[in-house]
Amino acid sequence: MKQTKQLETGAERTPDVRAGDKPPAGPARRSSRQAAYEPDEALSNYAAPALEPWEEEAPPSARPPAAPSSTLMPKAAKRMVILAIVWLVFLLFVSLKSAHAAPEAGGAASAALSSAKASYQLHCAACHGTDRLGGIGPALLPENLSRLRKGEALKVVRDGRPATQMAGFGQALAADQLAALVDWIYTPVVPAPVWREADIRASRIQHAEPAKLPARPVFEADPLNLFLVVEAGDHHVSVLDGDRLEVIHRFPSRHALHGGPKFADGGRYVFFASRDGWVTKYDLWNLKVVAEVRAGINTRNLAASPDGRHIAIANYLPHTLVLLDGDLNLLKVLEVSDRGGKHSSRVSAVYDATPRHSFIAALKDVPEVWEISYDPAADEIPAGLIHDHAQREGAFIPGYLNPRRTQLSDPLDDFFFTQDYSELMGASREGKGQVVNLDARKKIADLPLAGMPHLGSGITWDWRGRRVMASTNLQAAEVTVIDLQSREVVRRIPTRGPGFFLRSHENSRYAFVDSMMSPEYKHVLQVIDKETLKVVHELTEQPGRTLAHVEFTRDGSYALASLWEDDGALLVFDAQTLAEVKRIPMRKPVGKYNVWNKITREEGTSH
Ligand code: HEC
Repeated sequence: MKQTKQLETGAERTPDVRAGDKPPAGPARRSSRQAAYEPDEALSNYAAPALEPWEEEAPPSARPPAAPSSTLMPKAAKRMVILAIVWLVFLLFVSLKSAHAAPEAGGAASAALSSAKASYQLHCAACHGTDRLGGIGPALLPENLSRLRKGEALKVVRDGRPATQMAGFGQALAADQLAALVDWIYTPVVPAPVWREADIRASRIQHAEPAKLPARPVFEADPLNLFLVVEAGDHHVSVLDGDRLEVIHRFPSRHALHGGPKFADGGRYVFFASRDGWVTKYDLWNLKVVAEVRAGINTRNLAASPDGRHIAIANYLPHTLVLLDGDLNLLKVLEVSDRGGKHSSRVSAVYDATPRHSFIAALKDVPEVWEISYDPAADEIPAGLIHDHAQREGAFIPGYLNPRRTQLSDPLDDFFFTQDYSELMGASREGKGQVVNLDARKKIADLPLAGMPHLGSGITWDWRGRRVMASTNLQAAEVTVIDLQSREVVRRIPTRGPGFFLRSHENSRYAFVDSMMSPEYKHVLQVIDKETLKVVHELTEQPGRTLAHVEFTRDGSYALASLWEDDGALLVFDAQTLAEVKRIPMRKPVGKYNVWNKITREEGTSH
């Protein structure tokens, strides 16, 4: 039993396993699991409108003044009015004569457009692709650029990005050409670009032969107490030894990883998805990229079955859910639309539901939740009107790798799995909380929550004999604690500001919450006592900087937080004394993921 042995080795190497640290019992031992939107999704999903005020309304003062009254006017004024009328008539005459001026103005706009297109092909296409789908450089489509302000993009195109292949074009192109070019890359491609099965297959790259690589770690550190730190600042991933709290390896990732990396096969392999649809399989024991494939054009996240044999990818562009095998070969592309096939939909996110042997997908544009079984022996799915139950006339589709739909009244944007994964607690975009039973395939209850609950941030623990779940709120400055059985709100804990992540560990009495949705308090991390349900401590950085996203070490003895800046760091806190014990410089560490906590579905973290 390789895996068992490996788990034991890991436990031996952990220096201070606490009394409460249970022996490992495999991924299924936890009672509650959560699905969470990960950092990068966070920003594009919820914060984008607040953080990116691209368009401002014209202030009222810009309105034209009211026309003056013509009564009781002095003679001179009357003469002026007559003159003005003559002038207006003249202007009207001129403008009528040159009626072709209008097409000319349109011509100017389309000239700017075609010159933007031409300068794109001349200067940019070699790296960003003739169709803007990406190449050496990332895709330049509005969907993909949604997190980059236009002004920022202009700066990048003018001045370049230091230490990357993106050079500045401030010398080669005039200011208006640059502006037209940037306007154009923020304009949707019509018709929407396609990414077909053949494109997916053709994109696959095999980098290493896993069978030829040693089946044991090439390093000394406990492979189950590693952290992967996603550094968005320069698109790298750091591998951190969670015992010695030191980086043992760092490697370049695809541009803009999206969603959390997903560990499989006892932590040996990890799968990443990038904003532009690239999926990477990485061998964490050998510190090597195994294979890559491009599964879409604009991607939200991926999910992996625990054995690493099935991978699901949630796409915004095209409207597909892509299923791959563990070697990143294409199994199937599911076109995503409602039951009637009338409305297609983006896929918000996909998660693994281990005990159900399935993936659960949240759809953005149609009110359905999908469950896709990766069990080859899954029951068939009734596909429409069934006239004769006994004869089952062509009304069933295979259960394996096909969607089982739950119809809802609102699309669910964000959710949390309960206990045995039979239910999910979700919130719609309007913030309406509801409980959906995945076996009954329907909504079974409403949740009494205010504001915009972020159920994806939910964590659970035992509190005074009850199992509770707590989550942040994207609009209200509070952490809401719910009794999982009665679904009543047990406590509303006031915080500094609306927060995104809430994290704890079974061995810790504390939960950490950020206020990153609040410009004023995003530098404050608050510590909640899970017994008293009160904020008992604050950790602060300089105002204006963001401190967020905590993950504990395997045994819960340290909490690692992100100073979420380009010249940022991981801040390591002693989880008992709350003292900062170490600061490890990082380039915008947007997320960190502990192998053990993820593969055992630790109750204090998201998945
Ligand atoms: C030699 C290759 C190359 C050429 C030519 C090039 N780029 Fe880039 N571009 C890149 C790379 C690589 C990046 C990613 C840099 C990084 O790591 O952040 C990039 C990034 C960008 C970004 C930022 C995208 C993001 O998601 O952060 C924009 C916008 C951009 N390029 C626009 C352009 C435009 C417009 C042109 C033509 C005027 C152009 N680029 C020409 C390679 C290139």
